[in-house]
Amino acid sequence: MSEIDALNQQLSVLQQEALTAFTAATDVAALTELRVRYLGKKGSLTEVLKGVGKLAPEERPVIGQSVNIVKQVLGNALREAEIALQEVETQQRIEAERIDVTLSGRSRTRGSKHPVQTGLDEMTAIFTQMGFDIAEGPEIEDEFHNFDALNIPPEHPARAMHDTFFLKDDEDANVAESEAKPEAKPMLLRTHTSPVQIRAMQHFMEERVEPPFSVVAPGRVYRCDYDVTHSPMFHQVEVFKVDHDVSLAHLKGVLKHFLSTYFEKDLPIRLRPHYFPFTEPSAEVDIGCVFCSGKGCRICKGSGWIEILGSGMIHPNVLNSTGIDSEKFSGFAFGLGVERLVMLKQGIPDLRLFFENDVRFLRRMGS
Ligand code: PHE
Repeated sequence: MSEIDALNQQLSVLQQEALTAFTAATDVAALTELRVRYLGKKGSLTEVLKGVGKLAPEERPVIGQSVNIVKQVLGNALREAEIALQEVETQQRIEAERIDVTLSGRSRTRGSKHPVQTGLDEMTAIFTQMGFDIAEGPEIEDEFHNFDALNIPPEHPARAMHDTFFLKDDEDANVAESEAKPEAKPMLLRTHTSPVQIRAMQHFMEERVEPPFSVVAPGRVYRCDYDVTHSPMFHQVEVFKVDHDVSLAHLKGVLKHFLSTYFEKDLPIRLRPHYFPFTEPSAEVDIGCVFCSGKGCRICKGSGWIEILGSGMIHPNVLNSTGIDSEKFSGFAFGLGVERLVMLKQGIPDLRLFFENDVRFLRRMGS
């Protein structure tokens, strides 16, 4: 075989070998390596060219042309293979990072306001819209604000009826009764929000503010009691107004507006004579049964009325105890149980549901 034929054969073997290798390459990096191996400065094609020196001068351009063709063929094949592999790699990356927009999102469960808090906020807002100012007092109270100043002296039977939680003073707990400091004031968990009446009025007097005072005092209260309708901790909203010539008519008007706004319907109300030491006259307030519209049902025990709060005209002794002249001013006050009103509005049968924290209940009632 002539030199030139041998070279041509070498070239065609090389081309075949290179093309096979290109198709076998599985990634772009492998192709780059192959490019160096076949077409690089020290690659196989250069190697073949070295043999050209042995040829006769007129044969050289012939083989040169063949080499150029092989170079071109291999170059094209490489570019094509590269494009194909790049395409594959891009596809693989897209697959790996793929975001399935049809997949439903991961929902995060959000907490909600406790139904009692919702009720408390709604009730307070109705009063602030009527111009009442919000006041708060401590949950740990002394006997003066919880009882004495509210016209409930120590021997008063109402004091025993309040099922009060008294606090043990740490210091007193460790000394014998005979050694206990006589001036130590027993502290207690307030049994109602009425002590805020005293604190608010005292505050106004200290600041030398003259009536009118219009106050709404929402908060937690405590009584030693637990059944379907009683919890040792519950919430009250206390409302009072002091001014010249405040009358029962004002009390009734405020109550009527509050109740029809809260229950979102015009409800009949009834004031039933009652007794509270801190109001005179006193009345318990009933609303027409929200379940049977007054016809009589199991909830209202057939009467058509449901008792919802205690009220009355502030007793002169209470006004006087804070330094307000009961000859010049009068006032009304009432205190309502928040849980009870929320139960009536939402049709909740058992008060204890509020405090068991069963998420199914809270989720259903939450807002
Ligand atoms: N403090 C009373 C109670 O808890 C309610 C009340 C408040 C009654 C104000 C009259 C006036 O039962």
